[in-house]
Amino acid sequence: MTGKLRNSRVFSMRPVVGSVIATGLVLLGGQSGAAAGPDQGAQLAATCASCHRLDGGGTGISSIIGLGEERLTSALLAYRASESPNHIMHAIALSLSDEEIASVARYVAAQGSNQP
Ligand code: HEC
Repeated sequence: MTGKLRNSRVFSMRPVVGSVIATGLVLLGGQSGAAAGPDQGAQLAATCASCHRLDGGGTGISSIIGLGEERLTSALLAYRASESPNHIMHAIALSLSDEEIASVARYVAAQGSNQP
């Protein structure tokens, strides 16, 4: 009796979990769709700026200004593949598509070229 109850509770949770994941995917998909275009890099970089200052200043978290497009791209790909052990950056890189990594790297690298 209790076994059955427990089972039915587990089963009734599943659609909820599934739809939460599905909603997340739809939101991510919708976001990258809306961000596609020349502003995509800038919009993505705004999310990096909450931790990495984009003016090249230090905050304790290393600056990503001046790293260059290739270094940024390979760092993000490594974080996404978990080759670089940083949980924060792994989570962030996981949410980025190849295209988004390319555009944020291009944008951030261009910020670096404006620095003296
Ligand atoms: C929640 C905070 C946070 C956000 C948001 C964040 N990062 Fe990071 N990032 C970190 C931390 C922490 C490290 C590792 C700290 C260190 O190495 O000093 C790191 C490291 C990096 C590195 C490696 C730097 C190096 O010198 O090797 C790169 C590249 C990087 N982040 C790029 C990005 C980009 C691009 C974004 C936006 C898409 C971003 N980060 C968003 C916290 C964050």
